[in-house]
Amino acid sequence: MELYTTVTDAITYYTGLSPAAFFTISAMMVLVYKFVSGMFVAADDYMAVKREQQFTLREPVQIGSITEDELRPYDGSDPNKPLLMAIKGKIYDVSRSRMFYGPGGPYALFAGRDASRALALMSFEPSDLTGNIDGLSASELEVLEDWEAKFEEKYVKVGQLVSERTSVVEDETKVD
Ligand code: HEM
Repeated sequence: MELYTTVTDAITYYTGLSPAAFFTISAMMVLVYKFVSGMFVAADDYMAVKREQQFTLREPVQIGSITEDELRPYDGSDPNKPLLMAIKGKIYDVSRSRMFYGPGGPYALFAGRDASRALALMSFEPSDLTGNIDGLSASELEVLEDWEAKFEEKYVKVGQLVSERTSVVEDETKVD
C-alpha cells in the first residue's frame, strides 16, 4: 500500500497529473503507438522483401527471337527467370515491376504473353490475351500505341516474338 502511495505521489509530483489521468493518457499513447506502427511493415519483413527483390532483380538479358509458347514460362512463376511481356511482338523485361506483373499482382495475367489485344481493348478477358490485333478500330490501335510508347520508355526490349523459331528468314520479315 505504501508503495502504491509513493508511486501515485511521484506521478503527481513529476507530471502534475492525477494518477487516473496519467494511466489513461499512458494507455492511449500505447494504443496510438500500436495503431500507427501497425500501419507499417515490420523492419524484419521489410528486409526479407528487399532481399527477395535483390535476388530476383537482375540486369535484363537479350533473349532474341522466341515463340509465344516459349514466352509463357517467363510469367514470374520461376524466380530464376526474368518476367517478360510482349506488345506487338516486341518482348520487354518487366521484372522491375514485379508488383504489377508477378504472381498475385493485378496484371499477372499479362506476364509471359503478348498482351497487345487486351491492352488495346483495356480488357482482362483471357480470350484477349493475344498478339492478334486484327479488326481493332483506329482508337483502339491508338490506345495500344500509347502502351507501346510507355513500355519503350520504361522497360528494356529483350527480344521479339516469332511464329516459328526455325524459320529465321521468315521471322525477320515479321518483326516490327
Ligand atoms: C479500374 C480500373 C483501373 C485502375 C484504377 C488502374 C490503376 C492503375 C494504377 C494506379 C497503375 C499504376 C500506374 C503507375 O504507377 O505507373 C496501373 C498500371 C497499369 N495498368 Fe491499370 N488500372 C485500371 C485498369 C486497367 C486495365 C483495364 C488495364 C488493361 C487491360 C490496365 C493495365 C495496366 C498496366 C499494364 C499497368 C502497368 C504499366 C507499367 O508497367 O508501368 N489497367 N493501373
